[in-house]
Amino acid sequence: MQNIIKVKDLCFAYNKVLVLENLNLEVEKGDFAVVIGENGTGKSTLIKLILNQLSPQRGEVSLFGQQVSQFKNWSIIGYVPQVTLNSNVNFPASVEEIVSMNLYAKVGFMRVLGKKYKGIIKQALINAEAQDFAKRQFSELSGGQQQRVMIAKALVNNPELLILDEPTAGIDSKTQKKLYKLLEHLNKEHNITILMITHDFDSVEELASKTIKLQYPKNGEALYC
Ligand SMILES: Nc1ncnc2c1ncn2[C@@H]1O[C@H](COP(=O)(O)OP(=O)(O)OP(=O)(O)O)[C@@H](O)[C@H]1O
Ligand SMILES: [Mg+2]
Repeated sequence: MQNIIKVKDLCFAYNKVLVLENLNLEVEKGDFAVVIGENGTGKSTLIKLILNQLSPQRGEVSLFGQQVSQFKNWSIIGYVPQVTLNSNVNFPASVEEIVSMNLYAKVGFMRVLGKKYKGIIKQALINAEAQDFAKRQFSELSGGQQQRVMIAKALVNNPELLILDEPTAGIDSKTQKKLYKLLEHLNKEHNITILMITHDFDSVEELASKTIKLQYPKNGEALYC
């Protein structure tokens, strides 16, 4: 099996406060890997390390068999970040515009998107079951609808790996189930490897091909890596 994500003996501290201690994990092609753990155990931090937005003090992270610091092929990874209070999109933008943002690396910012790209956006919206609100303003959508748009945005480059940080936070249980079905479909039918953080393990236990449980560092004395 192809190794998609490999984390080896990872140790990370923010300002000398240890968050992740000797973490090991492997995600292989086709996995639906689920990361669980209490608030503050370092789940979002782990994703930032995997995406090279942070650098570990010790240990290694590799993506698609390559050290993350050398990795350049970012368009094959779709990322849906954790929604926080200040991550609302306040500027006026339609759903199509939001989804198209991830294409600008390819076509150049402020370029008019041609027919080909419009087709790609439409397909991503269909795959995320968000096509019904394509023309609407993003800020006017409900939380669950916005989350599906963010998934469409992450799908627009046809990723091989999809990383989602609590995609169902604040969403009612019926809509949550729909989102999980959608992710299951993307994993099984589109062969997209998934790494998802959730607090809702009961709902995804059946979907998960592996589970990673993060805990607070055991050694309370160890402030450093
Ligand atoms: N930029 C930062 N500077 C300093 N400390 C930080 C920073 N970001 C996160 N932390 C701390 O690191 C720890 C892990 O944070 P992280 O956001 O990774 O947790 P999490 O597991 O994603 O939590 P949640 O379930 O609440 O999303 C927390 O104690 C947090 O306060
Ligand atoms: Mg988090």
